[in-house]
Amino acid sequence: MSVFSCLETAPRDPIMGMTEAYMADPAPDKVNLGVGVYLDETGKIPLMMCVQAVEQDLAATRRPHGYLPMSGMAGYNTVVQELVFGPSSSAVITGRVATLQAVAGTGALRVGAGLLALASPDSKVLLSDPSWENHDLVFTRAGFTTGTYRYYDAATRSVDIEGMLDDLRAADPGTIVVMHASCHNPTGCDLTHDEWDRVTEVVQERELVPFIDMAYQGLSLSVIQDMYPMTALGEAGVNFLVANSFSKNFGLYGERVGAIHFATSDSAEATRVLSQAKIVVRSLYSNPPTQGAAIVSTILSSRELRGIWEKELGEMRDRIKKMRAVFRSGLENAGVTQDLSYITSQAGLFSYSGLTVPQMQRLRNEFHIYGLDSGRLCVAGLNAFNMDRVIEAVSEIMKSE
Ligand code: LMR
Repeated sequence: MSVFSCLETAPRDPIMGMTEAYMADPAPDKVNLGVGVYLDETGKIPLMMCVQAVEQDLAATRRPHGYLPMSGMAGYNTVVQELVFGPSSSAVITGRVATLQAVAGTGALRVGAGLLALASPDSKVLLSDPSWENHDLVFTRAGFTTGTYRYYDAATRSVDIEGMLDDLRAADPGTIVVMHASCHNPTGCDLTHDEWDRVTEVVQERELVPFIDMAYQGLSLSVIQDMYPMTALGEAGVNFLVANSFSKNFGLYGERVGAIHFATSDSAEATRVLSQAKIVVRSLYSNPPTQGAAIVSTILSSRELRGIWEKELGEMRDRIKKMRAVFRSGLENAGVTQDLSYITSQAGLFSYSGLTVPQMQRLRNEFHIYGLDSGRLCVAGLNAFNMDRVIEAVSEIMKSE
């Protein structure tokens, strides 16, 4: 009798599984708008100039491949903390933030969840409805029970802020609330700064524990504006966590670069939390990898390279906006009569199309265009070569509703 015999075949991952299906499709004109990856106008993941410059220097330097500390590269943690919280953050200046390099955004979430499982094992975790498909898995596998708070209003295609606040007001003290800093995944609908202020008031009043997922800093409005949730929560003195990733905004997907930040009460508490988080890391993967963190910290530490990075990031942001505009007008010109303004008002990589599961299946099976079953389309995968095909297919499906 095998120890594994009780295991059934797991279902396909809703996002990564879609890439597997895309790869297996022999159609020559297939289009992948499933996974959240930014592609350039030629349909490739860009190798940013700032990244290339650092990689050349790193390749020219012979370095032994030693271990990093469990918390990662110290210089990296310092510059990343400043990027995520801002240079004048009082939380950072007073030393109440503990930061550890992490294995991209997912790894950061998992380390944060592991630490919370020690600190607050009976707390419930609330996710936005809907949220990134992997959030639920990360928190349930760390031992938590998850639920949802109202977020997206399908009728208005915008954030149901009153519903969200009511649900937060009804949550028990200590509830962990996972929120997206910007470019909400999958809806592309973000809170305004005023709404973040209102959320901050409620989490403070109800003693909730915000856990901010920031996978897209700089891809909504700007590097500075996208960090507003950290400013609002930090200045209010709230205890919270931030998981940040450099997959999308540095194009370093496979390098797995990110960080987990714990905004604690004071520097003594930050020291204790850091020591416990290191044990969580040790039990999961011991210590993080080197290359991606070396690239990011070199860029963020150099005024010149950081300038190049922000410029390239701005170009990515503009290209996404342009693709949204072309996609929307293409559908309108093709005779789709429903209000499509959501395509240009949503922010970030995704358009939450409202297409149903059968419609998304049709898009895949008949037209070889891959999006998620939730209706999410990665508009950052559109370009001049695939745009017409996508418009033709999506308009046909929308018109036959
Ligand atoms: C996505 O949402 O498609 C990306 O964040 C990739 C992932 O890991 O799911």
